Amino acid sequence: APDTDLRPRSLDQYIGQEQVKESLQIFIQAARQRGEALDHVLFHGFPGLGKTTLAYIIAHEMQAGIKVTSGPVIERPGDLAAILTSLQAGDVLFIDEIHRLNHVVEEILYPAMEDYQLDLVIGQGPGARSVKMDLPRFTLVGATTRTGLLTPPLRDRFGVILRLDFYSPEELVTIIKRSARLFGIEIDDDGAMELGRRSRGTPRIANRLLRRVRDFSEVGGHKVITREVADRALTMLSVDQSGLDEMDRRILLTLIDKFQGGPIGLDTLATVVCEEKNTLEDVYEPFLIQSGFLVRTPRGRMATAAAYEHFGRPMRRGKGHQP
Ligand code: ADE
Repeated sequence: APDTDLRPRSLDQYIGQEQVKESLQIFIQAARQRGEALDHVLFHGFPGLGKTTLAYIIAHEMQAGIKVTSGPVIERPGDLAAILTSLQAGDVLFIDEIHRLNHVVEEILYPAMEDYQLDLVIGQGPGARSVKMDLPRFTLVGATTRTGLLTPPLRDRFGVILRLDFYSPEELVTIIKRSARLFGIEIDDDGAMELGRRSRGTPRIANRLLRRVRDFSEVGGHKVITREVADRALTMLSVDQSGLDEMDRRILLTLIDKFQGGPIGLDTLATVVCEEKNTLEDVYEPFLIQSGFLVRTPRGRMATAAAYEHFGRPMRRGKGHQP
């Protein structure tokens, strides 16, 4: 990943998510004092909020190894068996997008998580044999956008379930200053705040925008990234004053200009803005909802009064609009 080198290595370098950090700190310390592997941990939260980073940090804090994979990559039970049998005691197995495991693979995971047992059927038909093997005590760290996407039996096998939230602009400022320091570039307080405010509450986006603002600043011969430099760069990148990008604006303006503010169904919205339904739900909507520009109602998605105001559109009262 492009932000590997910016990732904090330890819990105390990790900025934000205070409750998550506090919980992890205690569970890690307790496991270490008992000389045991940490219980299985499930992280849920929107993309870019730090789930993978925390998996690496857990391994680091446990002084253990880590194997990284993802739900869609593990196609057959044998693929998972190969990974599980390669683990050493205490290791972390990180499965990103764990909700996308197919059910045959998922069923291998149950006894592995619960009893550290590998239960595999080899071959087919009359010659099929069942193989049982002891696995080392390992820690499964799973990541998903929403816990509701997991089957209950999988979800129930995690001892620790932690939710990551959007970051405050102030937390993003701290992250941006840290990244700037690692890049060896200068950004002043106002410049960092301008970026922090316009990064959709998401460190991955903050770091990506910082790289682009750095390009802009270096080519323009600026020594320090000030608010003005940041603003000009962000405007060039089509990131508006509230941090909305082109797709965010297309979503809201579709609702406002083509559908009288809604409500319209997710399918219709996805078709009109030419984006995947899942991407709309997991990437765009959460931030628009959190910022108060969009609401989900039983009848569909609606633009809020704040959205009308953001675009300077008069709000016509009528069918469907909430007060
Ligand atoms: N880089 C990305 N996310 C971070 C975080 N939460 N703390 C510190 N650096 C980060």
